[in-house]
Amino acid sequence: MASKPTDDDVPDYVLNNRAQWDAQAGNWVASGEEGWRGEPHWGIWHLPETELHLLPEDMSGMRAIELGCGTAYVSRWMQRRGASVVGIDNSERQLATARRLADEHSVELELLHGNAETVPYPDASFDFAISEYGAAIWADPYRWIPEAWRLLRPGGELVFLGNHPLATVAVDWNLDEPATRSLLNPYFGMHRIDYNEPDGSPSTEFNLPISEWMRLFSKVGFEVIEFLELRTKARNHEQVFFVTADWAYDYPSEQVWKLRKI
Ligand SMILES: C[S@@+](CC[C@H](N)C(=O)[O-])C[C@H]1O[C@@H](n2cnc3c(N)ncnc32)[C@H](O)[C@@H]1O
Repeated sequence: MASKPTDDDVPDYVLNNRAQWDAQAGNWVASGEEGWRGEPHWGIWHLPETELHLLPEDMSGMRAIELGCGTAYVSRWMQRRGASVVGIDNSERQLATARRLADEHSVELELLHGNAETVPYPDASFDFAISEYGAAIWADPYRWIPEAWRLLRPGGELVFLGNHPLATVAVDWNLDEPATRSLLNPYFGMHRIDYNEPDGSPSTEFNLPISEWMRLFSKVGFEVIEFLELRTKARNHEQVFFVTADWAYDYPSEQVWKLRKI
């Protein structure tokens, strides 16, 4: 394994997001515990794996990596299906929860502290890579998508889930208010989104226009197996993070890309 980069080598947004996630980690313990106990479900609307099929049913003998694993419940689901799993995360405090849960469930996971844009593993180390709201939204796609490609063996698959670009343009990122039915931000040119948390501290997320995601995949050497646009099942006033169920019934709030390394 390569040596760990010093903070001088780490991009500004990775350091800012690390401070954010270290500060917020306590808010994610309960959902992490629930994820570790429960059956696989995805995204903010908890859509069941039986519907989305994001994981191979049988992962026996597979090497898998979760990029931005947080409390590592997705890693747990892959381990339960037979994979040997590495999880990497930018926040030591999130990893502390993941390590405690692995211990309590007597599960062996390799949990690394680091940036999913530069993973200290050799080329072609993994059969499967996944990110649910980890690298998928917090890392720069022009860095982490080529890195995921490098980590996979030919034929290996990358699956990721995050905000849909339509949701990204319908939110004022500096207001603590839900997505609107007006377009507030430009679609073309979407890439790095810098905003302030309610306490004023900086966070950065990333997203791309759909055609730009596709251009990036093909340039890097991924083929698209499937693209999903996720919605809620029922129209109501429930709000989850920055989206209401009313909005997410009419518009896709989340995207899933399933890719194969050519
Ligand atoms: C929302 S959690 C994702 C985990 C879990 N699937 C979930 O939805 O709770 C986001 C995680 O991404 C991590 N993260 C943010 N930027 C990252 C980066 N550049 N490399 C690795 N992890 C990162 C954060 O530390 C945080 O634990």
